Amino acid sequence: MAKNRPGNSPRSAGDAKQLALLGGKPVGTVEQPVYPYFTKRACQRVMKIMAEGRVLGFSRDVPEVREAEAALSRHHGGRHVLTTSSGHSSLQMALAGLEIAAGDEVITTPYSWGASTSCILHQNAIPVFADVNRNTGLIDPKQVEARITSRTRAILPVHMYGHPVDMSAIMRIAARHGLAVVEDCSQAHGTTWKGVGVGNFGHANGFSCMGGKQLGATEAGYMVTPDQDVYWRACLQCQHNARSTEPGFSDALRPYIDSLLYTHRITAVDAALLAEQLKKLPREIDARRQNIATLRLLLADSKYLAWPKYSKHGNPSYYMWSMLFRAKQAGVRRDTFLKALQAEGLAAGSYSPSPIPSWPRLHWQTYKGPRTVWHENLRRARVDYRKDAVPNAEYAINHGIQLIFRFYKPAPKVMQRIADIICKVESNIDSLRQYERHPQLYANVNLHTGTAYAPASLANVGKRPK
Ligand SMILES: Cc1ncc(COP(=O)(O)O)c(C=O)c1O
Repeated sequence: MAKNRPGNSPRSAGDAKQLALLGGKPVGTVEQPVYPYFTKRACQRVMKIMAEGRVLGFSRDVPEVREAEAALSRHHGGRHVLTTSSGHSSLQMALAGLEIAAGDEVITTPYSWGASTSCILHQNAIPVFADVNRNTGLIDPKQVEARITSRTRAILPVHMYGHPVDMSAIMRIAARHGLAVVEDCSQAHGTTWKGVGVGNFGHANGFSCMGGKQLGATEAGYMVTPDQDVYWRACLQCQHNARSTEPGFSDALRPYIDSLLYTHRITAVDAALLAEQLKKLPREIDARRQNIATLRLLLADSKYLAWPKYSKHGNPSYYMWSMLFRAKQAGVRRDTFLKALQAEGLAAGSYSPSPIPSWPRLHWQTYKGPRTVWHENLRRARVDYRKDAVPNAEYAINHGIQLIFRFYKPAPKVMQRIADIICKVESNIDSLRQYERHPQLYANVNLHTGTAYAPASLANVGKRPK
């Protein structure tokens, strides 16, 4: 580590060297910036749209929708772009545009945000889970190929935390088996694989542009596809008048225009915000990369946090910062280490609770909660996710430590604080081991703030209180 490790001087309550979890003084909160950051011009544009009463984003006849889709299309090398109300809707419309529907199987990852699975379920299709690479947590192309059946129609990889999946391998497998590819790029704006932006590989791909994402509006998303027919078929499902006034609309689709729609439209406000946000995306991604590079230097000597071994062909955009915790070497549980980081002021956590196939809402056999649209479909297909073994996803989830990473400007001081916190916790790993072995010694500690620590001694363990 760049800074000296805290020494082993005697500890007392409020001591800066003592872990905050055990009553010491916290290093200090790692503040995330206000996010998303909208320029003055973006805010003025929103005010104007509101004042003019033009908030609806019905079609490209709305100038803001036309502008946002044209800008995003340029960003994706001229591909067709359909802005939507969310990332989920962009993915569902990608599947709809590819005509993936009841009974079709779509192979996806068990380690993700649930929307990359629920978009499949909402099309009445069947998610099939292929295990991930144990180290990176990204879907493993070999496992994908092993799960292909005669019912498989598509592969839906997710570029988790802004790290790209091996798209060369996924596209090769898809071509070999005649399958469609739907990239979930919700966490990966600006990420590249072999120099090509994600969202430019698959047949129809989705991005979330909700306010927490690298390209964040309020709530929004967009679908991108090289195939005009996919674009029109998606429009037919979710857009007012199916956007049929645009040039090129297929006459074959005209009889099917109606209002049996998902209302997955963007608003004019969000379209304007997207157009403005896109202008500063490259600069902000550069800063994220720079901050991670700083952190990498500062944490070069970290004993218990390992950088996952991502491919050299990827250039990530860091939606989140994700590390693997070396639980065996540390001799403490990941969650204990996390508690210690949190008490010092670092809001790190574990992104995913468990692999998606283990989630109770997928287990129609035993489910007792409110009815869902997908149970009947899964029952007919006799899918039993309780039998799914995805040991690598389990490992990656249980050993992962993630931090939401909104540092869109160079922030060396914040990176230094993050490193200081990790350094302090690692230097005190012995006291964390003791804390795990003898929790009764720390019974008075508020686990969130570390306050009210009553110094205790191992010599008193097992003795009756006087
Ligand atoms: C991987 C992934 N897919 C899909 C989504 C869904 O996006 P939205 O919340 O905009 O519907 C998210 C959102 O966080 C996501 O992280």
